[in-house]
Amino acid sequence: MKVFIEKDYDALSDKAFEVMKEVLDENDHPVLGLATGSSPEGLYARMVEDYKEGNHSYKDVVTFNLDEYVGIDRNDPQSYYTFMNDHLFKHIDIDPANTHVPYGSTDEAAKEYDDQIKSVSIQLLGIGRNGHIGFSEPGTPFDERTHIVDLTDSTIEANKRFFDNDVNKVPKQAISQGIATIMDADKILLIASGADKADAVKAMIEGEPTIECPASALQNHKDVVVVLDEAAASKL
Ligand code: GLP
Repeated sequence: MKVFIEKDYDALSDKAFEVMKEVLDENDHPVLGLATGSSPEGLYARMVEDYKEGNHSYKDVVTFNLDEYVGIDRNDPQSYYTFMNDHLFKHIDIDPANTHVPYGSTDEAAKEYDDQIKSVSIQLLGIGRNGHIGFSEPGTPFDERTHIVDLTDSTIEANKRFFDNDVNKVPKQAISQGIATIMDADKILLIASGADKADAVKAMIEGEPTIECPASALQNHKDVVVVLDEAAASKL
C-alpha cells in the first residue's frame, strides 16, 4: 500500500485527482470503478472541472459503481444512482449506456451485475467508520462477490444524515460489490477524511487482515494507493 497523508480535504482531493488522471491518460478505454459518499465529492468536482477545461473526454470510459440501497427508487434523491448523475455523469460526455450502478434486491440481480464487471482500471473506495468498503460490512468473507447486504446499526447511524436524521428512514439493505470483486481491479484508490475514520484507517493499514475490518483485505492487493487527510491519519 502506498499511503499519502495530505493536510486537509482539498489537498486530499487534489492528490486523488492526480492518481485518477494518470489512469485516464494511460488507458485508451479506461474502466472506472466508482464510489459514492462524501469522500469522493472533491475528486468528482475536479474531474468535472478538468472535463470542462477540455483536458479529458469520457466518451470511451465505462464505469461500474460499488453499491446501491435496496428498496429505494433509482430516481430517489438519496439513491446512489442519483448521486452519481448529480456529481459526475450529467456534467461530462460519458455515454449513459456505459455507466453502471447496481440495482435490485435478489441474489440473481447481484450475480448479473457482478458478471458484467470486467477489467476495472481503477477502483475508487471510501471507507466506513467500521472499516466497510462499498457496503461489504464486517464479517463479509474476503471471497464474497456482489451480494445483498444487511446494513449494520453503525452504518445506518452514519448514513441517517442523508435521511432527515431518522434511522427509520434509512434503507436496511443494500446491493454491494464484494471484496473479491473489488480486489479484481488493476489498481485501487481509497480516500478517507476526518477523525471519525481514524480507527478504521489504522485497522486497514496496521492491523492483521481480518474480516472484522473488510478494508484490511486491501493489504493483499498489489497496487493500492491510500490518500488520507491528517485527521484520518491521526492514529497511524
Ligand atoms: C457508505 C458507502 C461507502 C462509503 C462509506 C463512507 O455507507 N456505502 O461506499 O465509502 O459509507 O462514506 P463517506 O465517504 O460519506 O464517509
